[in-house]
Amino acid sequence: MKNFNDPLEIHNQIWSFMEKGVKDRNSAFHTPTLITLEDDNNAAARTLVLREVNKNSRTFRFHSDQRSKKIEQVHSNPNALIHVYSQEDKLQLRFKSKLSLHINEVLVDEAWEKSYGMSKICYQVDESPGSQINIPDGYQFTPEKNHEGKDNFIVIIAKIIETEWLYLSCDGHRRAKFTYDNEEFKVTWLVP
Ligand SMILES: Cc1cc2nc3c(=O)[nH]c(=O)nc-3n(C[C@H](O)[C@H](O)[C@H](O)COP(=O)(O)O)c2cc1C
Repeated sequence: MKNFNDPLEIHNQIWSFMEKGVKDRNSAFHTPTLITLEDDNNAAARTLVLREVNKNSRTFRFHSDQRSKKIEQVHSNPNALIHVYSQEDKLQLRFKSKLSLHINEVLVDEAWEKSYGMSKICYQVDESPGSQINIPDGYQFTPEKNHEGKDNFIVIIAKIIETEWLYLSCDGHRRAKFTYDNEEFKVTWLVP
């Protein structure tokens, strides 16, 4: 980063790192951690592949199985945190987000059509993800029962409400919070 005192440059860089993360499988930004809350208020975290980033609408797109625990949690409470740490870039990003769930919509059909065959297989499993089984491989794929997995596919859209940036530098760490008002952002500097 050329100037880690310039909020506009920092904010642009945050979004370009995330955009790069969609395409670059080796980037830390490709697989953020999504944190949600269970009904008993315990935190639940998991890795998800970042599928799309839209800087204008300030959204990220993720894919999942409708039957998974996280979907139940999002139905009850759409508030979430998305976390990424890139050792290479000495950067931690935390995105306070509001999640929405999408099935039976054009955006879901498009996402499904563009998914690779290998990714589709995950959704063809007969038993719900997280179900207890008696032996390690006690599950089966039944594409004929679930339209090749499409019946179980769901799109999660995260609308970013607040972004927190932490940059580690031997010249002095920097930490800032970005909040949003329509297209505008406001920066608040924080003690790192
Ligand atoms: C590298 C990596 C990428 C993953 N990508 C996804 C993904 O894109 N969608 C998904 O639902 N689960 C993905 N998973 C599995 C989740 O981390 C998680 O185990 C699963 O979705 C069940 O989560 P839940 O029980 O909290 O719903 C991925 C796991 C790893 C390790």
